[in-house]
Amino acid sequence: MAKIAAIYQGELSDLNKIRISPLSRAYTFSDSIYEVIPYFSGKPLCFQKHMDRLFNCISLMSISVDFSLIVGEIKKLADSLKNKDGYVYFQISRGNDLERSHFYYDDIEAERFGYAMPCKYQSSPMDAMLCEDIRWGKCNIKSTSLLGNVLVMNEAKDKGCGEVVMHRNGILTEAGASNVFYLNRDGIVRTSALSENILPGITREILLEALSESSVEVQEGKCSIKDFDESPSIWLTSSTKGLLPLKSVLGTKYMLDQSNNKFKDIQNLFESAMKLHLLASE
Ligand SMILES: Cc1ncc(COP(=O)(O)O)c(C=O)c1O
Repeated sequence: MAKIAAIYQGELSDLNKIRISPLSRAYTFSDSIYEVIPYFSGKPLCFQKHMDRLFNCISLMSISVDFSLIVGEIKKLADSLKNKDGYVYFQISRGNDLERSHFYYDDIEAERFGYAMPCKYQSSPMDAMLCEDIRWGKCNIKSTSLLGNVLVMNEAKDKGCGEVVMHRNGILTEAGASNVFYLNRDGIVRTSALSENILPGITREILLEALSESSVEVQEGKCSIKDFDESPSIWLTSSTKGLLPLKSVLGTKYMLDQSNNKFKDIQNLFESAMKLHLLASE
């Protein structure tokens, strides 16, 4: 296996050399959060937005940690991505317990772990599966507790799909590892409003900012999954997928209309916004 730059408690190493305690609260309770920062030709996309979300998640979890250490360690990891595409994964757990206990105390040191993974960002339109959102009630926290996502995404994989589109009582939430947008039958772009039921995606924000400067009408709110039957375009947004059209959503009548001009405009607006963000990135 190629060497992957990794860091644990401030010490740089190879990913396969890092050892963690089985009493890490990340391991016993998923008492941990994470962030993924995409890099293109070695440049981060919207670094500050990712840092703001990470800081917010740390606050929501009441984890006590020196945030400047984390930012420095992410930058150190990113050095290994010079001129390359890839991402930095960074995870912070509440720390290692002396004995496993649901109760936590302030005398443990937060656990910082991350690595930089070179990768190629290639994605082509995929099929998704509609399903009930079985996750917990604070999906706005980028927690490593992803069991709900793992279970439904693997059910989708068994049906030949690459993602899920989840709903609670018929109202769209998001996908397993992405946010969801669609054009409704009146040509309005719709997506779930921010709430505790979805992750505030950075790519979602990039697209919404780009659309707000255009003539495309956008509504963030409660989206009925019934709308999908009449939609010409449903798509995902995420740091690793960018803006990715869905070909079909199993469980609905939706089929991607390749000739929809409004969707083509939206894709172009997104591409231009990405280019501008990368130009502005150091
Ligand atoms: C559940 C979920 N929603 C949305 C997203 C998209 O977020 P971002 O655009 O910041 O990558 C992700 C990304 O991993 C995710 O896991």
